[in-house]
Amino acid sequence: MKSGVGAPTRARIPDKTLRTDRWWLPPLLTNLGLATFVVYATVRAFWGSAYWVPEYGYLTPFYSPCISESCLPGSSHLGTPLPELPGWIPLGFLALPFLLGFRLTCYYYRKAYYRSVWQSPTACAVAEPHERYTGETRFPLIIQNAHRYFFYVAVLISILNTYDMILALTHGLGLGGIILLVNVTLLWAYTLSCHSCRHVAGGRLKHFSKNPVRYKLWTVISKLNVRHMQLAWVTLASLVITDLYVMLVASGAISDLRIIS
Ligand code: FES
Repeated sequence: MKSGVGAPTRARIPDKTLRTDRWWLPPLLTNLGLATFVVYATVRAFWGSAYWVPEYGYLTPFYSPCISESCLPGSSHLGTPLPELPGWIPLGFLALPFLLGFRLTCYYYRKAYYRSVWQSPTACAVAEPHERYTGETRFPLIIQNAHRYFFYVAVLISILNTYDMILALTHGLGLGGIILLVNVTLLWAYTLSCHSCRHVAGGRLKHFSKNPVRYKLWTVISKLNVRHMQLAWVTLASLVITDLYVMLVASGAISDLRIIS
């Protein structure tokens, strides 16, 4: 390697790293966590059933909005403008690419998968396998600059998930409704803690004192923003738990725990 750590100006150190701690553990755990979610979400996206509980109005977020004639009756809260879809197209195809784009370009997830998957860098003081560093200036990483646009769509999807949750609560209250409510709350916390959201609220201001409302918003979002990493992981878990619960109730494997019928 003539560049990177192998460049002529760098010290000749044959070892990959001189670190003696378990530096490989965080990237490994990150890899496992992300892979688990990706496998689960992909399987469920193509599952094509057990996503809607008509008695209680539970719709899994993975299938919202469902806008084709293939959707189960009652599950299409925005109507069915599209005809039946072939089985290889996920019923939630409208939102899934944007949700995926939002997460993939998220500043926290970038840090996580640049270290664990992309290996650039793998860890502090660990030689990376790449010969050159081009940052986010070339395809495909230049797409990261679209994060703010994914954020705008994510806000619309969060509004839709909130609408789905409120509709479910009009059927009475059960454990499923509480799970939907918690999930939506966490999704809002994650979305609003986004770095782009913080910039929309208070970015490019020269004088906070002349923009008290935006300053207040920026202050609140900044407090949430500190927890963005935790919210990124918690919402992956809450999405899986919500979908799993709806799937189990919809398939008849378990009954919903009803509190108010
Ligand atoms: Fe993570 Fe925007 S920075 S969602």
